[in-house]
Amino acid sequence: MELKTALPLSQFILQQEDQHPEASGEFTDLLMEIALAAKMINRLVVRAGLVDIIGETGEENVHGERVQRLDRYAHETLHRLLGSTGQLAVLASEEDEGIVPVLQGRRQGNYVVNFDPLDGSSNIGANVNIGTIFSILPRITREGNGTMLDCLQPGQRQVAAGYVMYGSSTMLVYTTGSGVHGFTYEPSIGEFLLSEPNIRTPARGHIYSTNEGNYTFWSDEVRRYVDWLKSEDATNRHPYTGRYVGSLVADFHRNLLYGGIFLYPASRRTPNGKLRVLYEAAPLAFVAEQAGGAASDGLRRIMDIAPTSLHERTPLFLGSIKDVRECEEFLQGRHPALASPRSEPGGGG
Ligand code: AHG
Ligand code: MN
Ligand code: MN
Repeated sequence: MELKTALPLSQFILQQEDQHPEASGEFTDLLMEIALAAKMINRLVVRAGLVDIIGETGEENVHGERVQRLDRYAHETLHRLLGSTGQLAVLASEEDEGIVPVLQGRRQGNYVVNFDPLDGSSNIGANVNIGTIFSILPRITREGNGTMLDCLQPGQRQVAAGYVMYGSSTMLVYTTGSGVHGFTYEPSIGEFLLSEPNIRTPARGHIYSTNEGNYTFWSDEVRRYVDWLKSEDATNRHPYTGRYVGSLVADFHRNLLYGGIFLYPASRRTPNGKLRVLYEAAPLAFVAEQAGGAASDGLRRIMDIAPTSLHERTPLFLGSIKDVRECEEFLQGRHPALASPRSEPGGGG
């Protein structure tokens, strides 16, 4: 099967630079190092089970979650490669409680990277898609070591964001504010090749992605919305199809291409939601919006949230814009379907 003549990531980035002279080449280095880290992580992911990379380190991270060996490897690889570019003032990672200074003796740079080194790690052992999520911001402090302030910026300040999804084929999807572009890794030449230029997400999907095991902990408003999606109503193609992998990157990527809505609401178990603003919600919100979609916490645009702590969590409703807006109307009690007596939670919608 002949390979499609697809542009390598490095050439695509240079082309984009020519088209957007205001975009300095500085964060190009960062994107290329993220791509290199992705190749190194991918090498282990595709051999998980053969190389001794599955399983736990025996440590717990700041969230009290057991750290998988691949979490730690991905974190260290990204820290080392990004830290050596000389383009970074500071980093923040899901796997470290505080900010992560760039490597000793390295030149301080003008950018910040907040990242989730390995997303969906509970799925590693079962060979289910996992990913890496990254968010690139300009520093706001003037010089010297970057500080917490540089990391704690609202998502609308991002200059680039994206994710890598490790799976049957490994993809890198990112935006720098000029659309969303997808690259597929070709191991035989060790390159990410442009495979999905200018990704646009459908305005409405027919897929909803959520962990319904949390139904009993949800608010009545969330229950009413999900019950409504599951009700039988041909006029709006209900019931939607339920699809949930349990890796945010995989659930997001499928909905980005096919349309649909991903929901991780607040609940009695997770009063602020489960997913983190800086390195899960905000970067995927940037990608979603650049592809014509939307991202909300139920009341506010995710990209407007100014986080006050590195690991701050948020409820997350993410995907096709018409679905996210309808979800907001349910959560804010103003959707017309709420007038119908059938809309009581558990009432079959
Ligand atoms: P991480 O592995 O980085 O901690 O992320 C896991 C997240 C996310 O990938 C996914 O959407 C969510 O956890 C699944 O949570 P539940 O298992 O509670 O559904
Ligand atoms: Mn994650
Ligand atoms: Mn993670």
